[in-house]
Amino acid sequence: MKKSATIFFCQNCGYESAKWSGQCPACREWNTFAEEPSAPGTKGTASGKKRTGGKRSTPVSLDHVESKDQARISTGMRELDQVLGGGIVPGSLVLVGGDPGIGKSTLLLQVCRNLGERLPKILYISGEESLQQIKLRASRIGSFRDTLKLLCETNLSEIEEAVLEERPQVVVIDSIQTMYQEEITSAPGSVSQVREATGVLMRLAKEQGISIFIVGHVTKEGTVAGPRVLEHMVDTVLYFEGDRHASYRILRGVKNRFGSTNEIGVFEMREDGLREVANPSEYMLSGKPEGASGSVVACTMEGTRPMLLEVQALVCKTNFGLPRRTAAGMDYNRVNLLMAVLEKRLNLPLSGYDAYVNIAGGIRLSEPAMDLALVLAVISSYKDVPIPEKTVVFGEVGLSGEVRAVSMAQQRVLEAKKLGFTRVLLPGSSMEQVKNIKGIELVAVATVRDAQGAIR
Ligand code: TYD
Ligand code: MG
Repeated sequence: MKKSATIFFCQNCGYESAKWSGQCPACREWNTFAEEPSAPGTKGTASGKKRTGGKRSTPVSLDHVESKDQARISTGMRELDQVLGGGIVPGSLVLVGGDPGIGKSTLLLQVCRNLGERLPKILYISGEESLQQIKLRASRIGSFRDTLKLLCETNLSEIEEAVLEERPQVVVIDSIQTMYQEEITSAPGSVSQVREATGVLMRLAKEQGISIFIVGHVTKEGTVAGPRVLEHMVDTVLYFEGDRHASYRILRGVKNRFGSTNEIGVFEMREDGLREVANPSEYMLSGKPEGASGSVVACTMEGTRPMLLEVQALVCKTNFGLPRRTAAGMDYNRVNLLMAVLEKRLNLPLSGYDAYVNIAGGIRLSEPAMDLALVLAVISSYKDVPIPEKTVVFGEVGLSGEVRAVSMAQQRVLEAKKLGFTRVLLPGSSMEQVKNIKGIELVAVATVRDAQGAIR
């Protein structure tokens, strides 16, 4: 039977199909199918290939597996080590995804610099920038040892050869989307190229025990361009996020075969590269106005880490029939919902008022524990009464105006105390989680009406 020479790939999720279709049956995106030559060996050959000689693999019982304590390599950045689960595991494949221009190349170049001080050989392979461009960036970051070698190359077989020849301990591939294999005729960045390239790198990592970092750009849907296929092939997936205009960046673990994905790392982009932020709360609260109405300090959890930040609201009389609402950093519909709760439960005539909500610092949150802070910011701005100083607020608000319990209340209160706050408004039902904390006033609220009363 003659095999068709081309195949259609969804550029969003990597779904394969023999025919073109308008909507991808797997991820329901429209117009994402592109025709690519079906590469020799992309499908079915792994199992179809006859084994010729060599050792057969035999099943073993768990007791007979030697447990090796994986010695981790520290990246020299505490925040990154934490997200990786304690450092780099030799032979691991790590994907670092993020929007273009967010600082992936900068981060990895800095990691290379730190590693270069302790390891004999590091290889940084860029398919995006020339040696001069990398040099320019490197000169902003600082001085480099000559244990770091650079290579500008996009051809994977050349890269494989170079790696086998140089035998570095850590390799960085700056952008998987620029890499290509000659045998595959589709363009670099297409699903089959990215998938093959990752396969090659994975083999290299596992067989040679080299740790490889792969940079992957993210499309506006928030997935690594085309290849979500990439995510399940690699050991660890980290996303680098943040507002390009704000200087803080968050590195978030999405998948980790060697640790938990609950950790985040916080960085700040400076002129001389990325700097770790050891105390994110302090950083997010710097510049908070004192005695201004509509400003509330809230406590959110980023993974297992509590973080204080400022929620701002500006409520003013609407000039048109329809009130204007905007929400920066929070879900727009959630803001509308909470304002409706206030209208109904506290009889505030908010439908005649515009409301602008913002989370200072350009951070984006979706945690329901931010509800109570938003509610209080709106009330405070509407009445033009500032919230008492040194007060932190958290809690989820339900449709009948009840304040509901949130997780990890204890950590949140401790974080507030650590930063010198003296008062915490929290859900009454979370009170039993925070028994033995002294030196800070805990105000339990059960409804939004209680909360309104507590700030007067
Ligand atoms: P970059 O690492 O090139 O992003 P990516 O590889 O994710 O596309 O980061 C580029 C941005 O970082 C660019 O807008 C300039 C800024 N930057 C600094 O602010 N300070 C620095 O020291 C460096 C190297 C870059
Ligand atoms: Mg880059």
